[in-house]
Amino acid sequence: MAKEKEKEKEKEKEKRGINLLALTGGAALVAVAVNLAISAINAKKSKNHKKKDLPGSSVRIKLSASEIHKLTDHIIAKSKEIYDLVASVPIEKATYLNVIAPLVELEAYQFPLVQSCLYPKMVSTCDDVRKASAYAEKELDSHFLACRKREDVYRVIKAFVERGEKSDLESKHFVRCLVKDFERNGANLTLSKKEELERLTSQIDELTFQYINNLNGDNSFLLFHESELDGMPREFIKSLEDIEGRKLKIALKSYNVSAVLEHCKIGATRKLVATSYGKRRGKENLDILEKLVQLRHKVARLLGYPNYADFALESRMARTSAKVFEFLEDISDNLTDLATRELNILKDLKRKEEGDSQFGMEDIAYYMRRAEEQQFDLDLGEVKQYFPFDLVLTGIFRILQDLFGLRFEETKDVEAWHESVRLFSVRDISSSELLGYFYLDLFSREGKYTHTCVLALQNGCLSPNGTRQIPIALVISQCPKQIDGSPTLLRFTEVVTLLHEFTHVVHHICNRASFSRFSGLRLEADFCEIPGRLLENWCYESFSLKMMSGFHQDITKSIATELCRSLKRRRDMFSGIKLKQEVLLCLIDQIIHSSENVDIVELLKHLHPKIMLGIPFVRWNQPSLMLPSIRYWL
Ligand SMILES: *[C@@H]1O[C@H](CO)[C@@H](O)[C@H](O)[C@H]1NC(C)=O
Ligand SMILES: *[C@@H]1O[C@H](CO)[C@@H](O)[C@H](O)[C@H]1NC(C)=O
Ligand SMILES: *[C@@H]1O[C@H](CO)[C@@H](O)[C@H](O)[C@H]1NC(C)=O
Ligand SMILES: *[C@@H]1O[C@H](CO)[C@@H](O)[C@H](O)[C@H]1NC(C)=O
Repeated sequence: MAKEKEKEKEKEKEKRGINLLALTGGAALVAVAVNLAISAINAKKSKNHKKKDLPGSSVRIKLSASEIHKLTDHIIAKSKEIYDLVASVPIEKATYLNVIAPLVELEAYQFPLVQSCLYPKMVSTCDDVRKASAYAEKELDSHFLACRKREDVYRVIKAFVERGEKSDLESKHFVRCLVKDFERNGANLTLSKKEELERLTSQIDELTFQYINNLNGDNSFLLFHESELDGMPREFIKSLEDIEGRKLKIALKSYNVSAVLEHCKIGATRKLVATSYGKRRGKENLDILEKLVQLRHKVARLLGYPNYADFALESRMARTSAKVFEFLEDISDNLTDLATRELNILKDLKRKEEGDSQFGMEDIAYYMRRAEEQQFDLDLGEVKQYFPFDLVLTGIFRILQDLFGLRFEETKDVEAWHESVRLFSVRDISSSELLGYFYLDLFSREGKYTHTCVLALQNGCLSPNGTRQIPIALVISQCPKQIDGSPTLLRFTEVVTLLHEFTHVVHHICNRASFSRFSGLRLEADFCEIPGRLLENWCYESFSLKMMSGFHQDITKSIATELCRSLKRRRDMFSGIKLKQEVLLCLIDQIIHSSENVDIVELLKHLHPKIMLGIPFVRWNQPSLMLPSIRYWL
């Protein structure tokens, strides 16, 4: 198949080549004139249809590959210049104005430029540009890392700190973060320790790469008789390759494995699929993981931390590993009663369907789905009919505007990288002050990033002259573009995701930080998702859900209150067991990163039944897979 496509492409190229030749043969003489004509047309066009520049935006739109290279070079040169300048300040003369302020301004200045080089990787329609952007990312990453290791700059900053110049809270916090950044990268280590750190981090990079590569390169599969797949949706069975001898082939990719775990009636099949999935490169990757844990521990010790967990948590809200343990144990205990009741429901169901066999992790997703089926008459295909894309989007806008006192207005005729991209300004509804902008790039197309996410393109912050640089965000999604005029309908989970992403936009745009470093999305990693998780609740209240829905053939017909209630009850069902599984994963992560050397299998044997209410650990059962949070066959 792939080969044939390649051939077709080649043929097309040849054809185009021929066309081109035909045009250029004989056209040489008039080339200048043609060129002139073209530039004249362009000039005229740009007079009439001049796309507006966005006031207050330093984000560069539609850069070519060579412009990206040039801009990358400029960013690197400029930051080197500022770092050199700071490094040249004599220790005894270090002040906020000559040490900290230049670094603050640099960060505000370079952020939108850096993003201008990086976001094309995700959205550009042009392969060249995406490649240039990916390359720029590598260059910039390694440059910024090198900056953060500069001992000469670190020493001057440290001298400023030691002089104890008075400053406000936010500046103090900024300086503290700055110093930490340098120290966490080893800027104050002795030379031999620096070299050791370098060795360790490159080993870590190498092993991480291997681990991921092992998984990506794995093509293992299982063969089943159709009878062994009883319960699977018909579309799924139809998608399977039929191997001679009437066996069906299932590739062990997470998508297929989750589907089997949720739908297959045959316990033995679920178990085989779950353990085989865990076994993929299991031994190799387990060894790599154990090595990685040891190396991370060494890095943490070298930098003066008791263990890697404490190193990782220092820059998060939780701060210490002890606090995390306390929280996890507390919440696990609190969940035990609820989760036990839920587990008993699942066990009863299993007894009814499969007799007295032992209940295992591979049964959780399947019996949760069965229990839901029995409890609700929820036809998710029908639910979908109520979420035409446009209506959902306007509904989300209305909810967020009302909640936060904002006004979103579309700005037309602004330059963008694709014709389907839209731009909105955000104003404070009472003062009309311009707070920021966001771009929407919502429809899927070839070469585009395949997930939903929000990027900060420019950070809100105060300029030295007291004016505010406004924040700009970009929402990327991959809704299918409607073709035949019928509206794109969203699954309920997609509605929730979309609202969630827009809460990041609002968060980014409403922020009032003085420093680009603390703007919108650059938060402690364990806080970042909290506003979104909180605001997602609007998707589960019937009055707000009605605001973002309507039957697609008659949008005045809103979703039934009973249906909204079912969606909410469905979310809360089995939340005890679901959370217990998350607690288990978190605890494993904390424990293996809190000491030097852990036998991961032994740990799981002990911890698994303890947290999961007696359900035993089966080697190669992947706890992460059992989380039935992603539903594919809606
Ligand atoms: C680097 O700085 C940190 C924090 O000030 C300190 O704990 C550590 O001992 C320093 N390391 C060296 C080698 O000076
Ligand atoms: C399994 O999942 C992959 C995507 O992850 C898909 O391409 C494939 O068709 C699926 N089905 C089977 C039977 O492997
Ligand atoms: C667990 O329950 C106790 C008692 O009700 C409560 O004080 C505590 O905050 C709960 N812990 C968590 C993490 O929810
Ligand atoms: C204030 O500074 C910013 C960034 O340095 C600049 O873009 C802006 O034009 C300045 N505004 C005024 C009024 O000087």
